[in-house]
Amino acid sequence: MKKVCVITGSSGLVGSESVEFFSEYFDVIVGIDNNMRMYFFGKEASTEWNKLRLLNSIKNFKEYDIDIRNIKELESLFKEYGSDIKLIIHAAAQPSHDWAAKEPVTDFTVNANGTLNLLEMTRIHCPEATFIYTSTNKVYGDNPNFLPLVELESRWEINQSHQYFKNGIDENMSIDKTKHSVFGASKVSADIMVQEYGKYFGMNTGVFRGGCLTGPKHSGTQLHGFLSYLMKCAITGDKYIIFGYKGKQVRDNIHSWDLVNMFWHFHQNPRKGEVYNAGGGRFSNCSMFEALRICEDITGRKMNYEYSETNRIGDHVWWVSDVSKFKSHYPEWTYKYNLLDILTQIYYANIKNEK
Ligand SMILES: NC(=O)c1ccc[n+]([C@@H]2O[C@H](COP(=O)([O-])OP(=O)(O)OC[C@H]3O[C@@H](n4cnc5c(N)ncnc54)[C@H](O)[C@@H]3O)[C@@H](O)[C@H]2O)c1
Repeated sequence: MKKVCVITGSSGLVGSESVEFFSEYFDVIVGIDNNMRMYFFGKEASTEWNKLRLLNSIKNFKEYDIDIRNIKELESLFKEYGSDIKLIIHAAAQPSHDWAAKEPVTDFTVNANGTLNLLEMTRIHCPEATFIYTSTNKVYGDNPNFLPLVELESRWEINQSHQYFKNGIDENMSIDKTKHSVFGASKVSADIMVQEYGKYFGMNTGVFRGGCLTGPKHSGTQLHGFLSYLMKCAITGDKYIIFGYKGKQVRDNIHSWDLVNMFWHFHQNPRKGEVYNAGGGRFSNCSMFEALRICEDITGRKMNYEYSETNRIGDHVWWVSDVSKFKSHYPEWTYKYNLLDILTQIYYANIKNEK
């Protein structure tokens, strides 16, 4: 009996990191990706380079050009591997909240229906497997923007007396009665379904609500891939536009390797329908201006940027994930890469022109 791991979005940032990571632990890695990222964001965001890199370097990797909206094609793949499938990492998505408003139906069918298709295939063909879903902090909508924030010189920060000051925002924040953006709403639908397949059907499902997920394997573009795109502009001199909040908005940033290592810990001792905030937390976060300065330090040149007063709809002013719940369930997990490591790696990947 072979041990198989199925990874959707296998040419993307999280998917490709998962392919490399899990190729050590499984006999066969089955990737699913139809390069829809190029349809969403244009040629510069194509993930074809990453697919070819993986096919050339990972011996036990098989890739399928399947659209996760196509349940018939998914069915024949799940039938082929059946109960040999022990782990599913579902990372294929339409990932941008700006883009979602252009084509809400496409966004919803990829993010919500696509996830349901995969859950059903898992329930029918390999119900004992672990199912991991990469959700997002956008499921909390703009609720974080109503926290008591104070303006500091280079960033917004939460009031020191608030319970979230020490570790960041935990999973108890409401996902209800808030403006999610169209993207946030499709991700909430999927997030809830993944929980439900754990709670109702008793399957091993885990929801990881990402902050900014990042790393050198991101095909960064203006609408998605914050640090990757910022560094690209820092190197090329292309203009970077900062949208609103005085450029002091704070995001936490987790290296895709650290996230995938969370998946690995979860898979070894899975729970049913569990939810975790998964970001850089207090360990790795920055404001837009702070990130810009670090890019300038690394490249040794001034960035070409412009400030636009209008913020992105539903964008967070301050987001720092509290990962204490995950750490309490999986105490051996810890971060490996901080913000400087991440930006330095992205810089060298661009310089080597891997993309
Ligand atoms: N990158 C972030 O900052 C971030 C933050 C929070 C959550 N997330 C979530 O994490 C997951 C992975 O994000 P990422 O940054 O790796 O995205 P990515 O765009 O780099 O990778 C997603 C991959 O999925 C593929 N894909 C898209 N639609 C598909 C379809 N219909 N069928 C098959 N393949 C399809 C794309 O071609 C792409 O290669 C997504 O669910 C995203 O919403 C990302």
